[in-house]
Amino acid sequence: MRQNINDQDYRIAMGRLLVMYTQIDYLIMRACAERIASAPDEQAQLFMAKQVGDESKHVLIQQQWIKQFGTDATPIFSETQQELLLQHFRSLSWLDFLTDMYICVEALGGEAVEQVVPLADPGTRESLKVPLQDETDHVAFGLGRLKQELSMMPEAERDACIDGISSRLDFLDDSLHDMGLDIPAMFTAVGADYQLVVNAVMQRRQEILESFSLQVAA
Ligand SMILES: [Fe+2]
Ligand SMILES: [Fe+2]
Repeated sequence: MRQNINDQDYRIAMGRLLVMYTQIDYLIMRACAERIASAPDEQAQLFMAKQVGDESKHVLIQQQWIKQFGTDATPIFSETQQELLLQHFRSLSWLDFLTDMYICVEALGGEAVEQVVPLADPGTRESLKVPLQDETDHVAFGLGRLKQELSMMPEAERDACIDGISSRLDFLDDSLHDMGLDIPAMFTAVGADYQLVVNAVMQRRQEILESFSLQVAA
């Protein structure tokens, strides 16, 4: 059911989700900017640079909308938490960066956002339109590059790697939880059925993992 923008509880709750989404985009922008220099080839470098531009645009769109929306713009992630997340991305090998950035954050985080869109008021939905379109492009890049990495590996290493990817996928969930964020409550507060959100994310995760195995078998 679509939420009414005049419902004060909904506005406050959606405002918090919008602030979180904007902060994550900002962190993605910075993590990708740091990766430009060390990305393995020119195609990857050019894409990272393009993504930095996209995320910067998303941050501006969202900040503008949050201002109009008129709810509390206090950051969800503290400076220290932001620094820890950046350090995490900085520490990763290219393969793990692809997994955490493009599967965990972009594909699965994006899937959770998609689940909220039908419930959102028209203005919020409009503000998410361009960002979600661009995220599709980011996910396509990440999954494509991951498949490319996997295809270059000997079989045993590849299988171990796919297992590794699946065990890394709890990263986002765990980190948000460790930061003291009650994500289920944040989703429930905007009218989402959290179990359905989780189911959609888990199904997406399954599809992605299967696409890796299928591609490898082909
Ligand atoms: Fe974004
Ligand atoms: Fe993105």
